[in-house]
Amino acid sequence: MRRIIILLLISVIYSSATKANEGMWIPILLEKYNIEEMQKLGFKLTAEDIYCINQASMKDAVVIFGGGCTGELISDEGLLITNHHCGYGAIQSHSSVENDYLTNGFWASSKDNELSNKNLSTTFLKRMEDVTDLVLEGVSDTISENKRAEIIAKNSEKIINEATRDNHYKAKVKAFFHGNQYFLFVNEVFNDVRLVGAPPSAIGKFGGDTDNWMWPRHTGDFSLFRIYADKNNQPADYSPDNVPFKPLKHFPISTKGIEEGDFTMVFGFPGSTEQYVPSYHLKMITEKVNPELIDIRTKKLNIIKRYQEADPAVRIQYAAKYARISNSWKRWIGEIKGLDKLNAIDKKEDFEKDFQLWATQQPNQNYATILNEYKEVYTNYGEYDLAYNFLLEVIYRNGMEAVKASAYLNSLKKAYESDSIDYNKTEELKQKLKKQYDAFFKDYHQPIDKELTAALLSMYKDRISNQFHPETYAFVNKKYKGDIKEYVDAVFAKSMFTNKDVLYRFIDDFSEKSIKKLSKDPALVLFESFYEVYKNNIWPKYKTLDAKLNKLNRNYMAAQMKYLQDAVFYPDANFTLRVSYGQVKSYIPRDGVKYQNYTTLDGIIEKDNPDIYDYRVPEKLKTLYNNKDFGKYEVNGTVPVCFIATNHTTGGNSGSPVVNANGELIGVNFDRAWEGVMSDLMFNPEQCRNISLDIRYVLFLVDKFAGAGYLLDEMTIIE
Ligand code: ARG
Ligand code: ASP
Repeated sequence: MRRIIILLLISVIYSSATKANEGMWIPILLEKYNIEEMQKLGFKLTAEDIYCINQASMKDAVVIFGGGCTGELISDEGLLITNHHCGYGAIQSHSSVENDYLTNGFWASSKDNELSNKNLSTTFLKRMEDVTDLVLEGVSDTISENKRAEIIAKNSEKIINEATRDNHYKAKVKAFFHGNQYFLFVNEVFNDVRLVGAPPSAIGKFGGDTDNWMWPRHTGDFSLFRIYADKNNQPADYSPDNVPFKPLKHFPISTKGIEEGDFTMVFGFPGSTEQYVPSYHLKMITEKVNPELIDIRTKKLNIIKRYQEADPAVRIQYAAKYARISNSWKRWIGEIKGLDKLNAIDKKEDFEKDFQLWATQQPNQNYATILNEYKEVYTNYGEYDLAYNFLLEVIYRNGMEAVKASAYLNSLKKAYESDSIDYNKTEELKQKLKKQYDAFFKDYHQPIDKELTAALLSMYKDRISNQFHPETYAFVNKKYKGDIKEYVDAVFAKSMFTNKDVLYRFIDDFSEKSIKKLSKDPALVLFESFYEVYKNNIWPKYKTLDAKLNKLNRNYMAAQMKYLQDAVFYPDANFTLRVSYGQVKSYIPRDGVKYQNYTTLDGIIEKDNPDIYDYRVPEKLKTLYNNKDFGKYEVNGTVPVCFIATNHTTGGNSGSPVVNANGELIGVNFDRAWEGVMSDLMFNPEQCRNISLDIRYVLFLVDKFAGAGYLLDEMTIIE
């Protein structure tokens, strides 16, 4: 009897937890699982208003923007809004010293002046469908994981071919609940996407890395684009003859504002979460892996920052790199703190104890062994996961720059090593490589790289166990008495990858005879020594453990769903379209402090500090403020800027529409608050907040700051 009560209690806790705004829900299942609760929270529309294939619905106004963000349509002429940090690459690509759009902002004064972008696409979801039975046809519990993957790939291909026959759509089959369920996604992709407007970085990135992942926030994180189509409103590659795309639906914009407790919904593409992992996983990342990754990034950031502070040119060169390193670094720190405060590991362990009790009594005895098998895998996995990630940090993820760049030339080496050298192709390759190196040297500051290289090599040696050490360390011991700095000095003195002129001459003159010289270049030698370790000592075992985990994750997921039969589960994020709903809500970040749910222009002026790069406010914005020139966007003598709510979001949700109870756009999602960034692993409604840009700040900036009021004319604004 006691056990039953405990079980009941757990499922009550669990299911009520998944009700307090937690979850990233599947659009076609809203009617079944969510709409009632959404309406109770104030939502006035229906599930069909969100997703429907027979009539226009909200899904027709939401896109994947580029490779990892969300965007939404805000006019019937294809106008689209996303975050500034999502449009950053496009804005940067059009920026030059004469036209520095990152610094000054950009506003196309007419459609003719909108700027086209190579390699920028927007993807609409046309329809989705549960295809689990078809995908798993021929799969059984007894076949190997490889065989299973093979069958699934084959079945998926068939489904995809079927779905894209006789149309121009692109399709994908994606796994949900760790391979317990599969959905087909049929998409329409538009490749002519043009830049329409962006505020200066001092607005779009206001607060920079200092304020990143934090509330209170004042970032005007938006940019505007326009989708173009051919004359028949169909996707087409860029052409001057293309015309603005007419979407089935665009979001009306509400300037009515928000109040504590108001219903909010976020509709976008969350990238990835790990809600159902066992305690061992939490232990691994919070105790073993992430603290090390945080340390190595702290080292990188400290070195880069020192050079940036000494030289404004270097600050610009390394701004994007710094932001990239800093973003996950800061989130990891917050995540560990958040999990700790939640006693997340204890919670998981308690859950697992009860789960185990239940599992041993199930006819399907596979469930009873899952946790033990997990335990065994995780005994080794941590070491490999750490080595794998550390190696990536040292080389690929903004690590040793010249060393990484040395490997670009391997493609040329390969071309000349082939039996039938195609000299036309090698010439082409040389030009391509020089372009790649142009980009590399443009933002390269050798003193930083030299210091980084020595620091990262030392750290790898100290932190990663001997079995993963490349031969280089033995060489350094022998030749340099273990002095890594001396070794790095020699590498940088001798390598051609630290000198653009030397390198380009080498590329121009490259022939079969150059291969030997290239192979001896100390930067490439260093690169190869790490690559050998990766290939021989890390990857094979890591891959095997990973495959074991995949299977366990699938079985554990199925078992958890059986165990808590009455709870409604949402699948981990997998960069498919999801609905998160919640409420505008203040929160208590720590004892004695309460954060209000919105910020205003006053806060920007309060933060203004010409000496702190992240807090420089453009003169024009200060003038508007001083003159109280707020137009119709004024609320209580100021302009609203950002707000927070309890929507469960993650990376990829950036740029997502935030709508009110009537489905009108009230904001653009761009971040989460520090105290709640553990939401990728465990959500807590008390602490987890998504941060949105208030749409009224966007309108104010477009109208009053940019003088681009003509853009407002094509929007549907509800006052
Ligand atoms: N934290 C936000 C997200 O994960 C914004 C990142 C861009 N901004 C930055 N300062 N690094 O995407
Ligand atoms: N800033 C994230 C993004 O770019 C959103 C988040 O992680 O909350 O997608």
